[in-house]
Amino acid sequence: MSTNPTPRGFTSNIGAILAAAGGAVGLGNIWRFPYMLGQNGGGAFLLIYILFVLLIGIPLMMTEFIIGRRSQRNVVGAYKALSGGRKGWVVLGIFGIVAAFLIYAFYSVVAGWTLNYIVLSGSGRLAGLEPDAVANVFANFTQGSFLPLLCQLLFLALTGIVITMGVQKGIEKVGKILMPILFLLLILMCVRSLTLSGSQEGMKFLFKPDFSKLTGQSVLSALGQSFFSLSIGMGAMVTYGSYIRKEDRLFKTSIWIALCDLLVAVLAGVVIFPAVFAFGMDPASGPELVYVVLPNVFNNMPAGTLFSLIFFLLLGIAALTSTISLLEIIVAFAVEELHWKRTTASLVSTLLVFVVGAFCTLSFGPLQNAKLFDRTIFDLFDLITASYLMPIGALLMTIFLGWCYPKAEVKDELSNNGTLKARAFELYYIILRYIAPLALVIILISGIIG
Ligand code: PHE
Repeated sequence: MSTNPTPRGFTSNIGAILAAAGGAVGLGNIWRFPYMLGQNGGGAFLLIYILFVLLIGIPLMMTEFIIGRRSQRNVVGAYKALSGGRKGWVVLGIFGIVAAFLIYAFYSVVAGWTLNYIVLSGSGRLAGLEPDAVANVFANFTQGSFLPLLCQLLFLALTGIVITMGVQKGIEKVGKILMPILFLLLILMCVRSLTLSGSQEGMKFLFKPDFSKLTGQSVLSALGQSFFSLSIGMGAMVTYGSYIRKEDRLFKTSIWIALCDLLVAVLAGVVIFPAVFAFGMDPASGPELVYVVLPNVFNNMPAGTLFSLIFFLLLGIAALTSTISLLEIIVAFAVEELHWKRTTASLVSTLLVFVVGAFCTLSFGPLQNAKLFDRTIFDLFDLITASYLMPIGALLMTIFLGWCYPKAEVKDELSNNGTLKARAFELYYIILRYIAPLALVIILISGIIG
């Protein structure tokens, strides 16, 4: 197939990798992964997590890229285009839009927090505070209404602006600029953390598996975390896949993205746990780990204000490249299927997400007693999307591509019309048809029962 001179999507392979890695690397890696690992016993969780990323995550990312690039459409359009007469599959696309919407609603809460913490740490207002005072800053901020809502809205607006600028000038450009900065900042933080005395305990916690700490629920959490972190199971990678050039190798592209994502998660662990242990904090403290525990850690180290600023900048950058991918799923759908203008689509989706997302923000304050199954609105959104919608979406997707779509066409897309050898194709196809769906069913059932 000839190269398209004015591609509708990304202009280069590195652009595609950085943009999609930007979508994958996010709060999931730096905020959610460390506290999940902390609550699920450390090293054993890491090991299971790595297994899921390699065995299921990479093949599923390839699957989404195949669906996206084959169809050249957004997630709803993709199933419409590829399902032939069986229009029922379009529901799976809509399922993806709903999941994107729900994730964006709660994700933008924590993304907004980074803005406030960039200001707080940059202006030195966290410096020198006692641990109780640091915890109070977090509680007062998140339990309020105006400021957290404002931060959320600002973050949503920032994302909306990038999306309005388009795939090449917005998404790809921002990925190319911010991802290298993110890596640089992360490495700087790792060096800082590892040179603290007493950092070995944290490294042991992170890398030494204790399997007695694993339960069915924590295996499900590791699976959910790997999907959440790789942005799999709801159409983000279908959408970005539709922007990948026809001549790029999907195998290689997926592996790079997944390894980048894994590396950032592990490095975030290397930043956080040695520091947490060096200063005697609790690794299992939950979602507030990076907002409450880390500022105390920074307060105890030389040049802490600087490192605290660097850390929250890093978190904000990671969050932004991910919110961009979340909004793009919805906007690509609105532009291609509903024929809205890109600007209108960005504006309307942003406002809608804010209306729902505001409830997630307020569930830390005025709505903290509004609970279902003993969980706040925010927790419910997080649990429903990461532990259920994404694995179920992924399961249905494997059934679609593995069982309802011609094998020859899958191979054709993965081998760029037969121009590549695609040696691992048979292995990929076995995982797609049997191993991934089976693993997903087993884990989903055991997670629900146990
Ligand atoms: N993968 C992103 C993260 O780890 C979150 C995300 C999920 C983004 C799904 C897009 C789609 O932060």
